[in-house]
Amino acid sequence: MRKKIVFATNNAHKLEEVRSIVDESWQILSLSDIGCNADIPETADTLAGNAQMKAYFIKDKFGYDCFADDTGLLVDALGGEPGVYSARYAGDGHDSEANMRKLLANLEGKDNRKAHFSTVIALIQGDRLTTFEGSVYGEITFAPEGEGGFGYDPVFRPDGSEVTFACMSSEAKNAISHRGIATRKLVDFLSENS
Ligand code: IMP
Repeated sequence: MRKKIVFATNNAHKLEEVRSIVDESWQILSLSDIGCNADIPETADTLAGNAQMKAYFIKDKFGYDCFADDTGLLVDALGGEPGVYSARYAGDGHDSEANMRKLLANLEGKDNRKAHFSTVIALIQGDRLTTFEGSVYGEITFAPEGEGGFGYDPVFRPDGSEVTFACMSSEAKNAISHRGIATRKLVDFLSENS
């Protein structure tokens, strides 16, 4: 019998990523798999706070063991902005083009382009909370480059690479990305604690 756990997302890309690395004894259910179409609140002011808020929402309302993630892009010269507000940096529309335009405009004239992505995953099993973190460091380019990926990928070039995340295959990105690192920590933990 496969053990069930809910990933508090309907993002197909994230679901596929986790399902591809978790072992067969786990069945990863999405929000739509459990009939949840609620707008889950994400009003904390830290990535960990938001990840926990989403995971507890599902645990409390549906009773399932569950994990949830939250990601931000933290830019050194902007004091860590957009950080926890990455999705709605340019307003509430979740418009990646507008977010990138605002980021590039705010960095105009600044020499320090250093930035990192950070992902926090909160896992709730029974009454136990465990969190996992993954980060990738790099620089913000001067203009978008590449067609792949999503979000800020066209303007983020990871250290050690000549190209942005948007120029990489999803396998190459997942191998070094913030979410890939945090997800592999989660998957290792689930394998060892099942
Ligand atoms: P979320 O918490 O995964 O929804 O991420 C919040 C926001 O961060 C997204 O709306 C994207 O703008 C951005 N983001 C998250 N992960 C990535 C990534 O891997 N590449 C580029 N942008 C990302």
